[in-house]
Amino acid sequence: MADIEMEIDGKVVSAKVGEMLIKVTDREGVSVPRFCYHKKLSVAASCRMCLVDVEGAPKPQPACSTPVAQGMKVHTQNDKAKASQKAVMEFLLINHPLDCPICDQGGECELQDVAVEYGSDVSHFSEGKRIVSDSDIGALIQTDMTRCIHCTRCVRFGLEIAGMMEMGGTGRGEHLKIEPFLREGIQSELSGNMIDVCPVGALTSKPFRYELRSWQMNSIPSIARHDLVGSNLFVQTYKGKVKRIASADNDWINETWISDRDRFSYEGLTHKNRLLKPQIKVQGQWKQVSWKVALDYAVKGLNSHVLKHKKANQLGGLVSSTATMEELYLLKKILTEVGCDNIDHRLNIKNLDNIITLDSNIKLDALEKIDYALIVGANIRLEQPMINHRLRKATKKGADIDVLNVMEFDFNYPLNAENITAPNKIASTLAGVLKSIMTNNVQELPNYLATIEVDEVANNIAVKLLNSSSSVIILGEHIINNEDASAIANLATIIAQSTNSKTLNLSITANTIAANLVGFVPQNSGMDVNTMLASEMRGFILLDIYPQHDFHHLETVVKAFTPDDTFVISLNSFKDDIITGYSDVILPIASVYETSGTQFNVNNDMQSYTAAVKAPDEVKPAWKILKVMADLLELPGFHYADSTQVLAEISHQPHTKHTHDGHINFTNKHNGIGVIWQNSPYSIDAVLRHSSTLQKTKIGQMNSACMNQASAEILGLSNNDKYLGVPVVITDTVADDCVFINTNHAINIQEQA
Ligand code: SF4
Ligand code: FES
Repeated sequence: MADIEMEIDGKVVSAKVGEMLIKVTDREGVSVPRFCYHKKLSVAASCRMCLVDVEGAPKPQPACSTPVAQGMKVHTQNDKAKASQKAVMEFLLINHPLDCPICDQGGECELQDVAVEYGSDVSHFSEGKRIVSDSDIGALIQTDMTRCIHCTRCVRFGLEIAGMMEMGGTGRGEHLKIEPFLREGIQSELSGNMIDVCPVGALTSKPFRYELRSWQMNSIPSIARHDLVGSNLFVQTYKGKVKRIASADNDWINETWISDRDRFSYEGLTHKNRLLKPQIKVQGQWKQVSWKVALDYAVKGLNSHVLKHKKANQLGGLVSSTATMEELYLLKKILTEVGCDNIDHRLNIKNLDNIITLDSNIKLDALEKIDYALIVGANIRLEQPMINHRLRKATKKGADIDVLNVMEFDFNYPLNAENITAPNKIASTLAGVLKSIMTNNVQELPNYLATIEVDEVANNIAVKLLNSSSSVIILGEHIINNEDASAIANLATIIAQSTNSKTLNLSITANTIAANLVGFVPQNSGMDVNTMLASEMRGFILLDIYPQHDFHHLETVVKAFTPDDTFVISLNSFKDDIITGYSDVILPIASVYETSGTQFNVNNDMQSYTAAVKAPDEVKPAWKILKVMADLLELPGFHYADSTQVLAEISHQPHTKHTHDGHINFTNKHNGIGVIWQNSPYSIDAVLRHSSTLQKTKIGQMNSACMNQASAEILGLSNNDKYLGVPVVITDTVADDCVFINTNHAINIQEQA
């Protein structure tokens, strides 16, 4: 768009032809009041609060819906503009209850702020105000609909961003009400953003209700820790406690939105199950002790069980993906210094010879510009809400999305094709895609494609990839334990290279990228996690691990950790009977927002954050605990004053990079029923599992082993029977030969069929 010149309040400014006037005034720092306008939503132009005087126009014009033009002269402050704005303000306040003293929005309310400037102390309206009954729209959002000014931001958010129009206007005129359409309330995984967009106190945070006034809190910039995006947010604190989370703008990462998971997980921090003091087990009895006693006990135990006998090869270090990069680095450094190469973070992979090594080479903002995506093995909307949001934007611009999944899931955009196939057929379908592409490109076929049949699904995907100018192949979490995981990843890589597509690996979580970068995988001839669990180990250091949720095979894990002569040091944030069963020392560690650290997102952005609050009671950040343990072990090179010094040291280290091995090896002959097991989206880490509000939502309560009738008959199961302890749901949305388990409970999948 060409540049034009125009005048705002007598000042000459440049703008683009067709740009809305409110964008120009915002850019120039000219204050124009608004309610219905939101920079990330479509223009409704319904509130009329943004009226300004445009020379030549007979009446004031709404700045949010008036395109600028060459030579336009605009007055935002003259009598005509001011009179219009004041009149609209008076009109908007006719039915507003003015209950600011008891409103949670007080102090951050757009209506309150604008009323101060444009409101009048006298109203022409002397009739009784209307009252609107509140709707219960779920555990996350509190409604006070009498305060609603019908700006429709929440309605447009649902329609345009969440992809579910859950709120809408009913009635007309005086009887217009904004309310949910469905009795079950708001279900979107992004619903909390309605709290942020609502300009008044009609939609506020339910867990935060009547807690504090906004001006009483500090707002500390931080990073969400529950997925591969690392959404930017503000941690709002009061007297050392996290009270609320609000989104922060970053167009590169999360634009202005955050998922409900990121917004409400903080509630877990104050759960009664928090570990608050160090403990040691003496003759089978747990004793709370001082840090000095606990750390001495830990180091003495390591020495007497492992180091004194020069048995560092029987010591293991395991971490969860929630660890910060600094924690990963320090634990690896300690173990390397004592001669231990047995380290791993890949806790839930059954066969580590069959892993997904797929590099992501597309950025988050580029995802919304693709014209075709193939999603393989992901319920992407619930597993990676912010990445799904970018794909949804792409579909709105015309992109086609194909899915190759083991079960039908809810998508909030139309799919080109939802292909449901058994886990053991995914590799052969992708091989068919590759064969079709190579045949089309008149390339010589490798041996492994010789017997592959190209079915219609494979052919259609191939045609889409070949005809697309900007495509991406996305592999999700459901592939992790597929018997062809490695072949699937390698096929995806070759298909992407053959079609100039990008790749996106969503089979990893939280800080897995940092774990790979610092090389938290077996070193030299060290053991991987599964080998450690099958060996007779003398000791373990476990960082933020909860075996019943992090591993597939609880009994094996507990058996490996429990022997009397195995000394186990556990660093955890939450109490857990299983952990107390096998540990010898439990060291309470800081959880999200209580520690400084660094994580990587799928963009490969390195994002560091400081602690927003001090950890409660005697809880300490894990990096500090590891540093002191290293000092007590008299290891050299652990003189860090803060975590930034650890990060500085990491930046000078060579980083490990995984690449695919190009080896395609799959049999297409697996028999039996494939089980895909996942923690439900609100149970993927400890702090989420302890967020009581999230657990009350429909997503939080996901707990089902889904299978079709044929699989149920093979397994001899009926609806509501239990499979691996999870209620059976028989549905024809699941492929043959597959059980898809999404649960918020611990299970032991080792005994699977
Ligand atoms: S509830 Fe809030 S966001 Fe929704 S229409 Fe009313 S004032 Fe606007
Ligand atoms: S902000 Fe322009 S009409 Fe509402």
